[in-house]
Amino acid sequence: MNDSSAALSNLMHEERRFEPPAELADAANVTEEAYERADADPEGFWAEQAERLDWGQKWERVLDWDDPPFAKWFVGGTLNAAVNCVDRHVDAGHGDRVAIHWVGEPEDDTRDLTYAQLRDEVCRAANALTELGVRKGDRVAIYMPMLPETAIAMLACARLGAPHTVVFGGFSADALASRVVDCGASVVITADGGYRRGAPSALKPAVDEAVAKAADQGQQVETVLVVRRTGQDVDWNEDRDVWWHEAVDQQDSGHEAELHDAEHPLYVMYTSGTTGKPKGILHTTGGYLVGTSWTHWAVFDLKPETDVYWCTADVGWVTGHSYLVYGPLANGATQVMYEGTPDSPHKGRWWEIVEKYGVTIFYTAPTAIRTFMKWGDDVPAKFDLSSIRVLGSVGEPINPEAYIWYRETIGAGKVPVVDTWWQTETGQIMISPLPGVTHGKPGSAMKALPGVAADVVDDHGESVPNGSGGYLVLQRPWPAMLRTLWGDDERFKETYWSRYADKGFYFAGDGAKKDEDGDIWLLGRVDDVMNVSGHRLSTTEIESALVSHAKVAEAAVVGAADDTTGQAVCAFVILRESATDDEGAAPDDLIKELRDHVAKEIGAIAKPRQIMIVPELPKTRSGKIMRRLLKDVAEHREVGDVTTLADSTVMDLIKKKEDAGSSDED
Ligand code: PRX
Repeated sequence: MNDSSAALSNLMHEERRFEPPAELADAANVTEEAYERADADPEGFWAEQAERLDWGQKWERVLDWDDPPFAKWFVGGTLNAAVNCVDRHVDAGHGDRVAIHWVGEPEDDTRDLTYAQLRDEVCRAANALTELGVRKGDRVAIYMPMLPETAIAMLACARLGAPHTVVFGGFSADALASRVVDCGASVVITADGGYRRGAPSALKPAVDEAVAKAADQGQQVETVLVVRRTGQDVDWNEDRDVWWHEAVDQQDSGHEAELHDAEHPLYVMYTSGTTGKPKGILHTTGGYLVGTSWTHWAVFDLKPETDVYWCTADVGWVTGHSYLVYGPLANGATQVMYEGTPDSPHKGRWWEIVEKYGVTIFYTAPTAIRTFMKWGDDVPAKFDLSSIRVLGSVGEPINPEAYIWYRETIGAGKVPVVDTWWQTETGQIMISPLPGVTHGKPGSAMKALPGVAADVVDDHGESVPNGSGGYLVLQRPWPAMLRTLWGDDERFKETYWSRYADKGFYFAGDGAKKDEDGDIWLLGRVDDVMNVSGHRLSTTEIESALVSHAKVAEAAVVGAADDTTGQAVCAFVILRESATDDEGAAPDDLIKELRDHVAKEIGAIAKPRQIMIVPELPKTRSGKIMRRLLKDVAEHREVGDVTTLADSTVMDLIKKKEDAGSSDED
């Protein structure tokens, strides 16, 4: 954590403070007293929040923590997530309220869906899935662009109790196949394609390839349900492929929803860990919906009657699940959903959308904020952003410069910024200011939300004093917590609960510090996980992808600091002898070939920014690659202590290569 400590000592000098705006504080959904009340009786506090939802059978017990780390929340309770997100708002007389202002990437390609329309669509889709043989407990993979049908498909699955696994549309066929196989999905919902950067981008071919690969690995996909979005040509398999409009549109818009057990699986979301195999994070129904809906209401101070909320995350990530689908819809929010990229057809597209729909709450990632900073203040200045009253940030530490720019340029110097820390595993926001209560400090996520217990501890699990750093832990269960890893209870225990087993703490894998006021500053991962543009990537997974290339003998990957994306993927590769010429030089186009290979194996987001061909890798005597030293090279720093290397001259060889320019950066 050396680099982070240096960064932190700069951050610790941050003395700017922003009080909550008086108007917001006066009418805030949550006030200061919530912290104390929740602390005195956390289970009572969460039970009170659970009352915000509609239940069939009420729970008998709030939390069963008799067999840690396997939690059960709202034991004995029954509910339906889709009914809570849709039907109940219609029943309460809000059927005409817009649920989703959908904005396609091509200009003027928009659709508004009211809650009543959304209910009809979800019911139709649920009826269609039933007709296609989907039953409670079956797994459905969803590989889609940002379309209303994506949310509809998720909600239809939830309605039936068929856990979905949404795979980000930017992931490769291989990544999709491995997820389909791991969770045993027999149905895939997809689209012909979506619009990205002004052009149609195909999805169906990747599904065709993934389904074939899954079959080779013993997982048969019976049905592929395809939304027609772009109208591009697709290969069609009559026995397997079904058009969404043919299967769904003719269905009845009535559907009797079954009540599911509070612990019934809602979805599996794959995320990178420290090994090559992604982890299937399992979220269940009742606790997840309580955690996401309450935090969405509290952290963004949501007023569903008047606010227009926009979370820019893709539905393929957990943020899109918790704060685009389940949290906001459970709260009856009106929200924007945008299909495309921020610069299509011009760099002001997002701000144009904010102006058009009068967005009041805006939630995005630091990497996007830094990109806008680069594009210049004159871009947002052309639009009226005065509707915005709360700004949120998620996915990676927000540096004070980006925080200030966000507050000043997007928030007119007066809108509070909530920096929200959480993870795929936590399901819900855990550490964040409350905009009507907590003052803002640029760069700090401040403190745990009411009902949540977080601390920064040392190696022994002892709380560190203010002004010191250590590891972030969560000290008690919370409703939206992951329940296990799909099919792998042991890895679940090992990854999150073994490090502080004697204390019963959840180990988040993040380094953090407490400042002099005890407020928390997140410092990034302490394991072999990178954070590129707020997306989690595993070094090992990319290394495996590189090594699977016929010309690669060995590979080591590190995340190097990057001004825009937070971290960038840098790879060091040893080639097989057969791939080099007599002088040991590599063919010129090989680096491009390797980068493309990673994109094919995992997805374009994992493409290394830089690949260096090296003769050796720095290893300890026990054979462990010392990535810390490679990171020094990638970040153009003096190389640190090499005394534990088996061969201390290796770093000289690598440095020599770097100086000679044997790398490719773009
Ligand atoms: O390192 C932390 C970082 O993102 C990780 C979780 O990534 P993922 O599961 O993909 O979820 C991203 C969206 C919740 C964390 O372990 N992270 C997330 N939010 C923040 C953050 N780091 C600093 N500040 C944040 N606000």
